Amino acid sequence: MTKMKNIAILTSGGDAPGMNAAIRAVVRTGLYNGLNVFGVKRGYDGLVQNEIFAMDAKSVANIIQRGGTVLKTARSDEFRTKEGRKKAYDNIKNLEIDGLVVIGGDGTFTGASIFSEEFNLPIIGIPGTIDNDLAGTDFTIGYDTAINTVVDAVDKIRDTAESHDRLFVVEVMGRDSGLIALRSGISTGAEAVLIPELKVDYDSIMKRLDKTRKNKASRIIIVAEGDQEGGIVVAEKIKENFPQYDVRVSILGHIQRGGRPTCMDRVLASRLGVASVEALIEGRKQEMVGLICGQIEFTPFKKAIKHIDSVDENLTRIVEILSL
Ligand code: F6P
Repeated sequence: MTKMKNIAILTSGGDAPGMNAAIRAVVRTGLYNGLNVFGVKRGYDGLVQNEIFAMDAKSVANIIQRGGTVLKTARSDEFRTKEGRKKAYDNIKNLEIDGLVVIGGDGTFTGASIFSEEFNLPIIGIPGTIDNDLAGTDFTIGYDTAINTVVDAVDKIRDTAESHDRLFVVEVMGRDSGLIALRSGISTGAEAVLIPELKVDYDSIMKRLDKTRKNKASRIIIVAEGDQEGGIVVAEKIKENFPQYDVRVSILGHIQRGGRPTCMDRVLASRLGVASVEALIEGRKQEMVGLICGQIEFTPFKKAIKHIDSVDENLTRIVEILSL
């Protein structure tokens, strides 16, 4: 057990629904354990600029249901420099902060890992990104809400596609990861899913479109943003092969990052938030807290940020089998 007295919390990188639920859990668990809790505005940039303020139970009231992050988030260039990190550490030292919780994705944990090593500051990470692309947790905060947003949008697109006998190429987020595309593809009955983890095999996609029921009214192809070519190029290639198809493209964009978090994300955020503070009190550092098979597990930052570059082939197979 450490004699931790003061902790701080920040959110960094792209926001994700459920971050507020995690902030609330961290603040209230800290207070519950007799700690002083500080909030940092705009991620690491706020540490550098000394935008650090005391939080109480009331400051996180009525936020569990809100998307975005009340602490705001940013990508900090200054924190990437040694001088910037030194400034950040001096601010932390002035307030006698002895532990930090950071919520974000791989960029956030890369920063945390360097900072923690340079100044021997205990830091625990909470996975918050809609992309679900971290090792050491089955799900990241925000992923469930984002895929449900995609499913809702694609169901609506399916209605109009069916009425007009159209093929829609829907581009979803996922700069380096096809996990949003894959799950939403399965749950919307997509005819094909294109993801960065797998090289696009146009031949097989064209064959599949040709082979599957000729009288299908609508077809949906989901393309991850990080796929080699993106939605517009994919749509053009399909048009070249099947001039008879009436093709449309829909790029869902940042709608996927907003909105009220689902129950799954709120519970995940609450569990990870509580565990992160308890971990700091127990003396853990330089680790990300995650949920694996329903259990709280800790993974060193350096392992957590290793992108998962393979996908479960059973999931990709399901798309093909069910597209008949
Ligand atoms: O990291 C989450 C993510 O939503 C990616 O899927 C996407 O490429 C990226 O953020 C876009 O972020 P921004 O528009 O904020 O730069």
